[in-house]
Amino acid sequence: MSKTTAAITAVGSYVPDFVMTNKILETLVDTNDEWITTRTGIKERRILKGEGLGTSYLAIKAAEQLLEKRKLDPKEIELIIVATATPDMLVAATAAYVASEIGATNAFAYDLQAACSSFLYGMSTAASYIESGRYKKVLLIGADKMSSIIDYTDRTTCIIFGDGAGAALFEPNNEGLGLQDEYLRSDGVGRNFLKMDAGGSLLPASEETVKNRQHFIYQDGKSVFKFAVTNMADSAAKIMERNNLTHEDVDWLIPHQANKRIIDATSNRMGLDDSKVMMNIQRYGNTTSATLPLLLSDYESQLKKGDNLVFAAFGGGFTWGSIYLKWAYNS
Ligand code: UT7
Repeated sequence: MSKTTAAITAVGSYVPDFVMTNKILETLVDTNDEWITTRTGIKERRILKGEGLGTSYLAIKAAEQLLEKRKLDPKEIELIIVATATPDMLVAATAAYVASEIGATNAFAYDLQAACSSFLYGMSTAASYIESGRYKKVLLIGADKMSSIIDYTDRTTCIIFGDGAGAALFEPNNEGLGLQDEYLRSDGVGRNFLKMDAGGSLLPASEETVKNRQHFIYQDGKSVFKFAVTNMADSAAKIMERNNLTHEDVDWLIPHQANKRIIDATSNRMGLDDSKVMMNIQRYGNTTSATLPLLLSDYESQLKKGDNLVFAAFGGGFTWGSIYLKWAYNS
C-alpha cells in the first residue's frame, strides 16, 4: 500500500481594497518611492480600513473564496488552523471565530504563531494530521492585519508591511504528491531584533507602554536582513540537496515576501532564474503569515500537477525554514 501524503488541493485569497502606495507613505514619513523600490522592491500594499474589522475578516474572506472555488461544504472540514501574528484578540482563538463564521461547524480550530514563518510551520502541522490519517480535510489560513501593529511614524518598518490572507486545503494523496520534506528551525536570539514589546505577559499594557509606543512592531532591519538572507538561502539549498533536486528539477520557488533583495539572494543560491520565482511583493509588501498562500493563489493557474515547489521563509523569533512540496492538481 502506498504511503499517504498530504497535498494542497485548493487555495483562496483576499486582500483589502485600499491601496497604500509609496506616494502615500511619502506624506506620512520622511521617505520616497525610489528608496523603497530599490531597497525592498515594494510599490504598494493593501490596508484593511473600517471599524471593528480584524484579522478574522481577512481570513474569512480567503476561506470563503476557497470554499466557493472548490464547491466544498464547510461542514466537511475537520480542522482549521489560522496562522497569524495579529490575532483578533490575545485570548479567544481567531480560528474558532473563523470556523463558526464560514459554517465549519464540525471542525475544531486554533491559531498558530511563528511570525513570518507561521504559514510555513502551519504547512508542517496540517500535513502531519493528514499523513497520520487522523483527519482528511484540514484548512490552513495565513492571515495578518499588520497595519494594526505598525507605527506609521517609523519609516524603517511602516514601508514594508501590508494586510492580506490566503488559505490552502490539505487532503490525503495516494500518488506521492504533496509535502515531501521539511527543514524547520528557530533561534530565540532573534526576539530582540523583531518584536512587539508590550501587551503580552512580559510587559502587560499600561499607560506607560502606550506612551512609549510599545504596542507597535519594532524591527532592527539590518540585523534581521542579515539573518534572513543567510538562513532562507541555506534552508532552501539544504532541502534541494537532501532531495537530490537540481535547479532544473525545481519548478517554483515560493519565498516569503519581506524584501526583494532577500528573495534574489535565495533564488541565486538555488541557481534559479527569475521565471521560476513567485513574486508579488511589489503589490502587497510583507503580509507576514499571508505571503506564501497569496503567492499560491496568484500563481495557481500556472501550476501543473507534479510541479516541484520549494517554499522558504524567515521571520521573527527567529523562525525559518524550507518545505519541498509536489503540486497536486491542474486548475
Ligand atoms: O518578514 C520578517 C523579516 N523581516 C525582514 O526580513 C526585513 C529585513 N530587513 C530589511 O528588509 C531592510 O533592513 C529594511 C528594508 C528594513 C531597511 O533597508 P536597509 O537597506 O537595511 O536600510 P538601513 O536600515 O541600513 O538604512 C539605510 C539608510 C539609513 O540612513 P543613513 O543612516 O545611511 O543615513 C536609514 O536611516 O536608509 C535610511 N532609511 C530610509 N530612508 C528612506 C531607513 N528607512 C528609510 C526609508 N526611507 N523608509
